[in-house]
Amino acid sequence: MDSMHLTREEKEEAIRWAEDSSWVEREDYYEDTDYMECVRDIIESPVFQSMDNYMQHGDTTCKAHCIKVSYMGYCICRKMGWEYAEVARAGLLHDLFLYDWHTHAKETGEHFHGYTHPKTALNNAVKYFNLTEKEKDMILRHMWPLTPIPPKSREGMVIIYSDKFCGLIETMARVKRWILFGFGKKSAA
Ligand SMILES: [Fe+2]
Ligand SMILES: [Fe+2]
Repeated sequence: MDSMHLTREEKEEAIRWAEDSSWVEREDYYEDTDYMECVRDIIESPVFQSMDNYMQHGDTTCKAHCIKVSYMGYCICRKMGWEYAEVARAGLLHDLFLYDWHTHAKETGEHFHGYTHPKTALNNAVKYFNLTEKEKDMILRHMWPLTPIPPKSREGMVIIYSDKFCGLIETMARVKRWILFGFGKKSAA
């Protein structure tokens, strides 16, 4: 990642892009035919679409979050001349845990979602899709350094970077809306 230098304008644009889920709702990613060639089977599957039922960060659903992480990772890897198809696919599946983590602990007594959900996501992903070993590793290791073992590939580090970046911006976007418009809007914390 050392050689990936972004200008201030590019960083500001990346923040605006991650704050905004409207391009996901409009399904603008269909216009990127190279991207869709990598991910169409996953993105159009019922199990992937079901992530729209679960909130992830702020007002962003798991589905929208995973599309952002996938597309950001794909763009970074293309820019760097790295392998991008597996990043695009693993990005979509990295949070395929399929429950609402806001109520999960209360309902199940399982209090370690942050540590356990990569394994749950991987178990779900392999049930529905044929994955490469690298894709599996990227999903399983995406919470590093919270979980102790890092991914084996530089592309896995791109997923980690994209996930942390999007997660932070999605959470902050909600805080910003609270400050600007008040607390009336109902959504998950
Ligand atoms: Fe995650
Ligand atoms: Fe994530």
